[in-house]
Amino acid sequence: MSTATLNEQTVLDALRQVKYPGFSRDIVSFGFVKDLAIGGGNVSFRLALTSDAPAAAEAIKQQCDARLRGVPGVSSVTISVQAAPPQAPVMSGAVGRKDILKDTRFVVAVASGKGGVGKSTVSANLALALKKLGYEVGLMDSDIYGPSQQMMMGITTKPFVNEEEKILPIERFGVRVMSIGFLMDVDTPVIWRGPMIFKAVEQFLGDVAWGKQDFLLVDLPPGTGDAQLTLTQKVALSGAVIVTTPQDVALIDARKGLAMFLKVNVPVLGIIENMSYYECPKCGNRDEIFKHGGGKKTADLLGVPFLGEIPIDPRVAIQGDAGTPIMVSDPDSTVSKAFLRLAEQVAKAVGA
Ligand SMILES: Nc1ncnc2c1ncn2[C@@H]1O[C@H](COP(=O)(O)OP(=O)(O)OP(=O)(O)O)[C@@H](O)[C@H]1O
Ligand SMILES: [Mg+2]
Repeated sequence: MSTATLNEQTVLDALRQVKYPGFSRDIVSFGFVKDLAIGGGNVSFRLALTSDAPAAAEAIKQQCDARLRGVPGVSSVTISVQAAPPQAPVMSGAVGRKDILKDTRFVVAVASGKGGVGKSTVSANLALALKKLGYEVGLMDSDIYGPSQQMMMGITTKPFVNEEEKILPIERFGVRVMSIGFLMDVDTPVIWRGPMIFKAVEQFLGDVAWGKQDFLLVDLPPGTGDAQLTLTQKVALSGAVIVTTPQDVALIDARKGLAMFLKVNVPVLGIIENMSYYECPKCGNRDEIFKHGGGKKTADLLGVPFLGEIPIDPRVAIQGDAGTPIMVSDPDSTVSKAFLRLAEQVAKAVGA
């Protein structure tokens, strides 16, 4: 068979049909195809996976083999799989860390030790509040376990990729939004292993064309695991805000979050108490459903600023589910005003 049409391009085009399990993204754009060599009808390359999941590696290898055998001119395929350990973590202050997001003035992580305390709600509304104060703002959902910004910000489209192969964030309500959920298949459950998280988050960060902006808010997955650490190590974070709720158990976890950031030298800008109290929309009466004030107490105890409290309001949840955050749907509500005050505090804390 003629090998006239067999070249790197045709081979890479075939390999682009192979998706990484659980992703809508292909193995070439992930950078897993290395040392590609074409000699006669033989194609050989190395699959440089950062995961040590043998089942995924085998599945990818078989798919590559099948795809390549369908390419005219290919007579044999040699694939070596190298499940390399992830690159050693780059600790704070290391060289290279500042290259990512160099056009973003302040990168602020929104974190919590415990799930469900309102990180995503706070990230979305804080982003909108900063925008209202006149800043250019990006919002990045890095929660690989359950990305929620697509839903909260009402985004139903997928982002485009520009000529430089960078993903363009989707603009919504004046805020640039990027979610790791854009790259994931909704119906395929993903079982993440530490090294995969590391690679995905790293790649994701480097591949987005944010453009010039004042703030990038990063909605973190709950807890203090690999993804959080990767982020804190890969990006020059200006600081982190820790979201908590008034219950003691949430506060204990807030302390854990704080400890993580302190360990990697990321300044903690302060603590936010969410679902702090309920204000009756009719009479304006404040009802402290939970033991209110714990966030302030924890902040004082740990010697970090207290940035403010956000009341509980059913509209927050309803509007969040509907894709129009309360900052957009009810900009004059008590909650929205609280978010604006919070945005002022955050801007002040980073010196914007
Ligand atoms: N101030 C509030 N008033 C009323 N409901 C709220 C408030 N803040 C958050 N919620 C609701 O609480 C639920 C959890 O919020 P959210 O998803 O923002 O938390 P999270 O910390 O990001 O969760 P996860 O850890 O799963 O990522 C959502 O249904 C949200 O709408
Ligand atoms: Mg969330």
